[in-house]
Amino acid sequence: MTAKEFYGTDWKTMDQARNQVLQAVRAGQRRPRRPGAVLYTTSRIKSPESACRKLRQRGLPATAQAALTRIRDAVGVRVICAFQDDVYQMAQYLEERPEFAVLQTKDYISRPKENGYRSYHLILGILDGPGKGMTVEVQLRTIAIDCWASLEHQIKYKRRVPHEHLVREELKRCADEIASVDLSMETIRELLNGA
Ligand code: GTP
Ligand code: MG
Repeated sequence: MTAKEFYGTDWKTMDQARNQVLQAVRAGQRRPRRPGAVLYTTSRIKSPESACRKLRQRGLPATAQAALTRIRDAVGVRVICAFQDDVYQMAQYLEERPEFAVLQTKDYISRPKENGYRSYHLILGILDGPGKGMTVEVQLRTIAIDCWASLEHQIKYKRRVPHEHLVREELKRCADEIASVDLSMETIRELLNGA
């Protein structure tokens, strides 16, 4: 089943919500500040398979209605930045938009997950504009951590992870090193900018 078939008449609004948040990210970059803070964005509407799997896991009905109201990542936007402070600045910009209500923030950068995962998550409710009424999950992270996250993500789809303990330990070590390098590079950039 396609997403359009599953979500029906709501699909269009979901797509508009996705675009509205992407537009806001673009607008946030146009402010008089360093260009290139956001390297790229990706976005998706959760596939019917993935939405139904999550709903079933939570004991909820596997319907589009539930996907839109009981889980909050049916529409997702990912914002990849060069540096950690770009992540925080963009997050703050989005949080201050009057057309968005901040339903939840999770700062896994200042409080990394057990496995080393670092990102800033925002759940936005759209109060006004083309995506009005929708909820969007925004994940903001640095490019180095994004690379880490896509590697780590593969574990979730493996039924058996060879050398699991070692793999998890090494991934954790990499995440910590990446975070440390991210901060060192931020310092170098500040030195270059004479800050
Ligand atoms: P989900 O129900 O899985 O969406 O997670 P949650 O409701 O506990 O929220 P959380 O903010 O922790 O995670 C939301 C999303 O962030 C996930 O669906 C992933 O896309 C991403 N994410 C969270 N934790 C990890 C992680 O440890 N590794 C990776 N690669 N991605 C993660
Ligand atoms: Mg998710």
